[in-house]
Amino acid sequence: MSILEALHSRRAVRNFDQREVEQEKIQELLKAATLAPNDRMREPWSFYVVQGEAKKRYEEVAYDYLQERFPAKQKLVDSSMEVVKKTPVIIIVTSDIASTEADTKDNEYAVCCAIHSMWLAAQELDLGFVWRTRGIGLVHDERSYEFIGSPEGKKVVGTVCLGYPEAKELENMKEKKRTAFEEKTVWL
Ligand SMILES: Cc1cc2nc3c(=O)[nH]c(=O)nc-3n(C[C@H](O)[C@H](O)[C@H](O)COP(=O)(O)O)c2cc1C
Repeated sequence: MSILEALHSRRAVRNFDQREVEQEKIQELLKAATLAPNDRMREPWSFYVVQGEAKKRYEEVAYDYLQERFPAKQKLVDSSMEVVKKTPVIIIVTSDIASTEADTKDNEYAVCCAIHSMWLAAQELDLGFVWRTRGIGLVHDERSYEFIGSPEGKKVVGTVCLGYPEAKELENMKEKKRTAFEEKTVWL
């Protein structure tokens, strides 16, 4: 698969079958992430891999969050919990907070590149992948920091959900309409 082909066919996959993801594949993704461009080689990323027993604890934290956030939407809470329970592997990705605002921003940009690299690598490894921030992504909630042990000087940027895609999701996968680059480009 060429890089352009991968970019054209990459999709967010949110539903997974229950096949276990091989450790080698998870390591391959993490290796791909660390190849991302980053300012002055600060390598500002850290990865917290959530599986097995830790996954069960994550589910509890996600449930607490959802109950608090959507107290009158039990159906939404239940369907979100269904999704998180059926996600085989979760990786929480953080970015280092630097001594200046500019460096902190650059660090976040680099971590975004790293997550996208993982996304493309996942595709080559036949894994489904989605970067989540909202809902069960918990990125904007203090609970995600506590969950990873409240590391100092790190900002949670993304929660990556991955596993082998559910066949139904692959069958129903549609290309998302994108605005033509011409409409987004100013040639100066
Ligand atoms: C920064 C970021 C945050 C996202 N957060 C969520 C999320 O919280 N929940 C979700 O289902 N998808 C999330 N997504 C995935 C997008 O919804 C998805 O990429 C978009 O709909 C385009 O679809 P595609 O990736 O299949 O092309 C996120 C993507 C990015 C880059």
